[in-house]
Amino acid sequence: MDNLFSLYIHIPFCENRCSYCDFFSSTDDSFVGSVVDRLCEDIRFFGAEFDWGVDTLYVGGGTPSFISESYMEKLFTNLDLSNVREATIEVNPKSISKEKLDFYWDLGINRLSMGVQSFDNNLLKQIGRDSTKDINISACQTVASHWKGKINYDLINCIEGQKKDQVIQDINLLHQYRAGHISVYNLTLNHQSKNMPEIEKATEQTLKSLGYKKYEISNYAKLNEKSQHNLAYWNLDNFYGIGPSASGTFTKNKKHYRRETISDIKKYISRPPEKSYTEEKIQPIDFAIDYLIMNSRLIEGIDLAKYQKKCGFDLTKLIPQTISKWQNYSLIKITPTHLKFSSKGINQLNQFLVEALSEIEK
Ligand SMILES: C[S@@+](CC[C@H](N)C(=O)[O-])C[C@H]1O[C@@H](n2cnc3c(N)ncnc32)[C@H](O)[C@@H]1O
Ligand code: SF4
Repeated sequence: MDNLFSLYIHIPFCENRCSYCDFFSSTDDSFVGSVVDRLCEDIRFFGAEFDWGVDTLYVGGGTPSFISESYMEKLFTNLDLSNVREATIEVNPKSISKEKLDFYWDLGINRLSMGVQSFDNNLLKQIGRDSTKDINISACQTVASHWKGKINYDLINCIEGQKKDQVIQDINLLHQYRAGHISVYNLTLNHQSKNMPEIEKATEQTLKSLGYKKYEISNYAKLNEKSQHNLAYWNLDNFYGIGPSASGTFTKNKKHYRRETISDIKKYISRPPEKSYTEEKIQPIDFAIDYLIMNSRLIEGIDLAKYQKKCGFDLTKLIPQTISKWQNYSLIKITPTHLKFSSKGINQLNQFLVEALSEIEK
């Protein structure tokens, strides 16, 4: 099959809203049935439009494990997973069970991503996360002893007052609970702690010593455990998102497009698929910018030949001044094949992008 896509399905429901989280979701579950029906309609409608095969699937949210098995079953009967390499579901420690894990596996899901965030009761409380150390430990034990597929756990770092030793302990616990992949997200700016560099260093060293290789700014994986779905985002491969607030970027007949689904549950369920999203044609230079932003997150660096092939621009000619300045400070290196950040340089990625984008826009 030629048209392989990465498909994201957004389940916009959570049992509770966490105070730090910006993802679109609602705690009003009275619309779950209608949303699932509309998602099934989207799968059929956009499946016919693109004649796609699903390469990677990500059922995220919100909290997919919050909705019942019968809804998940309905969703999956509409999906053709015969070409799928990886199928991930996001789960919350409060809404998993052995039975659910077996059920997901039987549906064809082979990767689980659970938001643990922290094992410290005070930190969980501080960030407004409705969970406890005991709930998180018990959920990890269930996953480790029962889940047959790959495992990712999410942690949140750099919470005000968080200690280096807490982070080290959390990572060691996740390793014990069979993590193949660990995502460590720094809490968004307004809450950030003062000892951030120390925490980041401890995170990297601990993960490295346990065999997790950093392959993206916030993501660490053991061998063959990288998230194939997220790699599709970072490589700006064709991906499509369905469900309220979901977005997608794809290339059709050499033209690039972005679609965004409406972030409103009532409007989403009351509109037909073709009226529930906005579409924007992305100009080649904007696609080159998007690709630079996404691809520079990868630790292996930007493959210059791939950049040229995909975007039609030679990156070294697009941002020569930025490259020269950052090379002089030893923050990046141009190898025969890649633009690669040094470990100090990758921590200043945002600044690099500000300078690169302003050079492009000059
Ligand atoms: C959609 S949620 C995960 C699934 C599930 N709803 C849960 O909470 O367990 C995705 C992840 O984004 C991260 N996240 C959300 N908001 C964040 C923020 N403001 N700062 C850092 N990480 C955040 C959390 O680690 C969370 O697990
Ligand atoms: S972190 Fe997860 S459970 Fe909390 S509000 Fe966000 S999506 Fe919902």
